[in-house]
Order: sequence, then C-alpha cells, then structure tokens
Amino acid sequence: MTVVNGKTFTAAPPQDEFPNSVFGAIIGSLNGFERLERLSKLEFLDLEYNRFNNKSIVSSIGHLSSLKSLNLAYTGLESVTNIQGLSSLQNLVFLDLSLNNFSDSIISFLRIFPSLKSLNLAGNRLKSGIQGLSGLENLEFLDLSFNNFNKSIKPFLRIFPSLKSLNLAGNRLESGIQGLSKLSNLEFLDLSFNDIGNSTLSSIGDLSSLKELHLDGCGLRGTFDIQKLDALGNLKVLSLGGNRITKVVDSRDIKIIRNLSSLFLDDSNGDGRSSIQLELLGAYPFLKILSLKHNSFKAGIFAQGLCELKHLQKLDMSYNDLSGTLPLCLANLTSLQLLDLSFNYFIGNISLSPLGSLTSMHTLQLSSNLFRIPISLLPFFNHSKLKHLNCHENEIYADIDVPTLTPKFQLRTLDLSGQGHGGVFPKFFYYQHKLEYVDMSNIKMKGEFPHWLIRNNTKLYTLHLPNCSLSGPLQLPIHSHVYFSDLDISDNHFNGSIPTEIGVCFPSLNFLNLSGNGLTGSIP
Ligand SMILES: *[C@@H]1O[C@H](CO)[C@@H](O)[C@H](O)[C@H]1NC(C)=O
Ligand SMILES: *[C@@H]1O[C@H](CO)[C@@H](O)[C@H](O)[C@H]1NC(C)=O
Ligand SMILES: *[C@@H]1O[C@H](CO)[C@@H](O)[C@H](O)[C@H]1NC(C)=O
Ligand SMILES: *[C@@H]1O[C@H](CO)[C@@H](O)[C@H](O)[C@H]1NC(C)=O
Ligand SMILES: *[C@@H]1O[C@H](CO)[C@@H](O)[C@H](O)[C@H]1NC(C)=O
Ligand SMILES: *[C@@H]1O[C@H](CO)[C@@H](O)[C@H](O)[C@H]1NC(C)=O
Ligand SMILES: *[C@@H]1O[C@H](CO)[C@@H](O)[C@H](O)[C@H]1NC(C)=O
Ligand SMILES: *[C@@H]1O[C@H](CO)[C@@H](O)[C@H](O)[C@H]1NC(C)=O
Ligand SMILES: *[C@@H]1O[C@H](CO)[C@@H](O)[C@H](O)[C@H]1NC(C)=O
Ligand SMILES: *[C@@H]1O[C@H](CO)[C@@H](O)[C@H](O)[C@H]1NC(C)=O
Repeated sequence: MTVVNGKTFTAAPPQDEFPNSVFGAIIGSLNGFERLERLSKLEFLDLEYNRFNNKSIVSSIGHLSSLKSLNLAYTGLESVTNIQGLSSLQNLVFLDLSLNNFSDSIISFLRIFPSLKSLNLAGNRLKSGIQGLSGLENLEFLDLSFNNFNKSIKPFLRIFPSLKSLNLAGNRLESGIQGLSKLSNLEFLDLSFNDIGNSTLSSIGDLSSLKELHLDGCGLRGTFDIQKLDALGNLKVLSLGGNRITKVVDSRDIKIIRNLSSLFLDDSNGDGRSSIQLELLGAYPFLKILSLKHNSFKAGIFAQGLCELKHLQKLDMSYNDLSGTLPLCLANLTSLQLLDLSFNYFIGNISLSPLGSLTSMHTLQLSSNLFRIPISLLPFFNHSKLKHLNCHENEIYADIDVPTLTPKFQLRTLDLSGQGHGGVFPKFFYYQHKLEYVDMSNIKMKGEFPHWLIRNNTKLYTLHLPNCSLSGPLQLPIHSHVYFSDLDISDNHFNGSIPTEIGVCFPSLNFLNLSGNGLTGSIP
C-alpha cells in the first residue's frame, strides 16, 4: 500500500493469488482506513485486487470529494449497499467496478455520476436494465463484457451518443445487433464470444469511425468477405480468431484494407482439416501485425502475398502445417521484429536461410521444428536487436572453424535445449552480459561448469544444463548473485564436493537439481 506523490494509492493483489504478498498487512490496517478521508485533494485512487466486502471502507472513500478516478475492480463487492457511500463523489470521471459480483440493481445507482466518461462493469452478474444509465450522456468508454446480457440490450445502446469504446464480449447476444448503427462516434467495438454469426457484419458496416473491431469466437462461418466492412475506412485492428471461416475474400480494390495495421485470424480453420483460403495479395500496405497461429496453413501461404507485406513487424505462424525449407522471399520482410514459426515442420540449415537478413528482429521463436542450428549462433551475429531466441527441440550442431567475430546481440533469454552435439561451450556467451534465462538441456558439450556465465550476467535467474556431458568440479562464482534462483545441472559428470559457500553465493536459490553426477561429501 503506497501513496505516491500524495496522489496515487496502490494496493496489493488478493491473498489467494499471491500468498506471500503484502495483502495481509492491508487487512491488518483496515481500521485505519478512515484516515484516507484526510486526503482531501486526492484525485486518483486505485484499490483493485483487495477484498473490501465491508461497506465502511467504501464509505470513507465517499468523503474524498476531489476523486476523479476510482478503481474498485476485483474487491469482492456485491450489492448497492456496499457502494452507497460513494454517492458524494460527483466529480468521478473514471469508475472501474469490474470483476465483482454486482447484479442489475447497481445500474440505476450509477446514474448519479453525471461526469462519468469511463465505466467498467465487466465480469459481474448483469442481465438487463441498461436504460437506467440514460443520464450518462458524457460516457465514452463502456465495458459490459462477461455479463449475461442478451439481445434485449440492443435498443438501449443508442442512449450513449458520445460512446467511443464499447465492449460486449462474452455475453449472450445472438444474431444481428442493429442498435449499434446509431453509435457514430464508436472507435472500439468488441463483440467476441457471442454467438452472433455472419448476420452481424451488415450492422457493423455503418460504424465509419471504427478503428478496432474484435469478432473472435462469434460463430462466423464460411466465406468472410472483407468488402462487407468497406465503409470502415479507418479500421486499424481486425480480430477474427476462433471462428469457422473457410475463406477470406479480399482484393486490391477494398478500401478498408488500406488502413489496416493488425489482422488476427488465429485458430480459424473451419473444419480442422483444410486451411482457410487466404490470399493476401499484397493489398495491405500498412499491415504491421499478422497473426495466423493455430490453423492448418501449408507453405504455399508465403507465395499467396505474405512476402509482399513489407511493413510487417510481427508475424505469428506458430502451430500450422508449414514444411520444407524457409522460403527465400521472407528476406524481404526487413521490418520484422517478432517472428514466431514454432510448432511446424520446417527443415534446413539456418545458416542458409533468409533469417540472416532479418536483422531488426528482437524475438525469434523456432521451437519444435526440424531446423539445423549451429551452436555458435553465427547466422544471427548481425542481429543487433535480438533479445529472445527460442530454438527448443531442433537439431543443434557444432560448427567448426567459427571466425573470431563478436556478436552484435545482447540476449536476455536463450533456449537451445533439445538434442545435439555442441563441441565446446560456445564462445558467443563470452560477450553476453544481460542474460536472464539460459536453457541448453541435452546438448552435449565438452568442458566444466561455466561459473563465469553467472558472474558475467548479474540478472541471470535460470541456468539449465542437464544432460550436457559437462565435467570437473562444481566451481561457483566468487560473489553473491541475488537474482539467481534456478539451477539444473543433473545428469552430467561433475565430481568433487558441493561447495560450502553455495548458500552465500545464491541466496535466492529455490530450485537445485544436482542428481546424476559424481558429487561426494556432505551437503553444506
Ligand atoms: C465492518 O466495519 C464495521 C465498522 O468499521 C466494523 O464494526 C465491522 O466489524 C466490520 N465487519 C467486518 C466483517 O469486517
Ligand atoms: C433476455 O433477457 C431479459 C432480461 O433478463 C429477459 O427478460 C428475456 O426473457 C431474455 N430474452 C431471451 C430471448 O432470452
Ligand atoms: C485512412 O485513415 C485516414 C486517417 O487516419 C483517413 O484520412 C483515410 O481516408 C483512410 N483511408 C481510407 C481508404 O479510408
Ligand atoms: C522482394 O521484393 C522485390 C520487390 O517487391 C521482388 O522483386 C522480389 O522478388 C522479392 N524477393 C523475393 C526473394 O521474393
Ligand atoms: C550449414 O551451412 C553452412 C554454411 O554453408 C555450412 O558451413 C554448414 O556445414 C552447414 N551445416 C549443416 C549441418 O549442413
Ligand atoms: C554481417 O554483416 C557483414 C557486413 O554487412 C557481412 O559481411 C556478414 O556476412 C554478415 N554476417 C552474417 C552472418 O550474415
Ligand atoms: C540426454 O541427451 C541425449 C542426447 O541429446 C538424449 O538422447 C537423451 O534422451 C537425454 N536424456 C534425458 C534423460 O533426457
Ligand atoms: C565473461 O567471462 C569470460 C570468461 O571468464 C571472459 O572472457 C569475458 O570477458 C567475460 N565477458 C564479459 C562481458 O564480462
Ligand atoms: C532432477 O534431475 C533428474 C535427472 O535429470 C530427473 O530425473 C529428476 O526428475 C529431476 N528432479 C526434479 C525435481 O526436477
Ligand atoms: C574428477 O574427475 C576427474 C576426471 O575423471 C579426475 O581427474 C579428478 O581427480 C576427479 N576429482 C575429484 C575431486 O574426484
């Protein structure tokens, strides 16, 4: 619990999620809560993730008449009586009551906050009565997601003429939602996880201010014709995951596509057998994020326009049926910062792949493919921004005659675990000083315990070297490493005794596996 600059009041997460959090301390001092009343200039108060079932706490907040922003999300509140004390907060602009247990009676109570611009009621037990909010003409942000509203809510949505953001995800809406077309200022709309089906598209087509549209898990089926949304010339984000779309129809003439910057089509292959038919046709000149994970795409997708999306910064193709060597045209995607190809069937020598040209990448996920990856990581030496590299479950090989070059990357996380022979402990490690997580499980190497790796990388918290054929004494770094918490060096050939200073050296250690070595002596 802290008061920052006399303005911000932040509380701790609930005890059941974070058993060792400072929540207990807050419980202990609840009786002093009245003192909050003295903060007569407080404008911003965040109490989310506490358990204030007790009305008296909320009534002491009621005296903070300067409050503009109040967050009571996930605080175990249940009924209007719990929050009656708030009625004097006439300046409230932002109110978050999400993830509580309120029923419909809360709605007409909220009418007394005429200045409200942002109201979050997500994750309660609301069913109806939304017309009770009709006084809130300034409302711009309304989140009613994950309640029990059905289509009878539709006629009432027009009572919020200023609305810019509406979230109705996870309710019980079915079929079209025509009432929406009056919301001409709407910029964000989320209707995900309602079984509304294809008919919805025609009613959304009028919302010409829309910038972000989420229709995940909406029961969309068959052909998705992007042209139906063509009036949405400002649309930047379109999310259509978890539907049963079999074909996406687009063309260079479709206007909305010109401004689109993010397209999500995850988990969308209708019958689970053949992939969605998707021709990107290079007609998305500003597309920066494309996510196609968990479909059944085959390698042909690259030839269907994917390589022409030159501005792509994030591409997620994980969990598909992509096979063969990486297509060379990928080298054209020079803006890529994140590339996820994990869980496919790609083969081939990474040294000869187009990945060498993609030097803007900060995150590269290759796990669970059939790539051959040199343990020197030489193909990535020019990737000065690379921070996260995951090569788990590929074939690592020892390249010989590695030129003495300095890698330009400073990695944070590295996973080379899987299978293979690495020769000596690779030299690129000598140049790393920002590593936090290193996993080389099951890679056979010659050499001793790399205690210098821990010394060089003061933020390192995980080092996994099981089954690596390392040998010699378990030599520890000289200084204490407070972040280091997880060491697995099981199934190697270390011998000698466990150093007595291990506790001083690694004071935060909470996982240690030394099994399957030749260590002798007593446990310090
Ligand atoms: C609720 O607050 C009142 C007044 O501060 C107090 O007397 C009562 O014990 C509290 N109830 C619970 C369940 O904590
Ligand atoms: C929709 O919800 C309202 C309010 O809970 C209820 O009266 C009505 O019967 C429901 N309609 C349908 C079709 O479920
Ligand atoms: C794209 O958005 C800009 C404003 O961000 C707008 O001026 C332009 O008309 C939009 N393009 C289309 C094709 O609607
Ligand atoms: C890269 O893009 C250029 C220009 O669009 C194109 O001519 C070339 O064929 C592309 N290269 C590959 C390898 O696809
Ligand atoms: C991969 O390609 C590089 C560069 O041509 C070559 O030196 C290396 O031997 C190849 N590795 C394998 C395992 O084929
Ligand atoms: C890195 O860049 C240099 C200079 O452009 C180039 O000569 C070298 O081949 C590149 N290395 C790799 C591994 O691509
Ligand atoms: C140890 O590594 C070898 C070779 O990489 C592998 O075949 C074996 O299954 C690994 N052992 C365990 C226990 O994972
Ligand atoms: C890391 O340790 C190695 C081996 O002691 C040393 O050669 C290298 O200079 C160190 N690197 C950094 C960045 O401190
Ligand atoms: C420790 O390592 C051994 C050998 O690899 C393994 O069998 C065992 O499950 C590991 N123990 C734990 C707690 O992970
Ligand atoms: C550890 O093993 C090596 C090689 O087998 C041996 O030379 C050395 O004496 C052993 N050290 C101890 C302390 O047992």
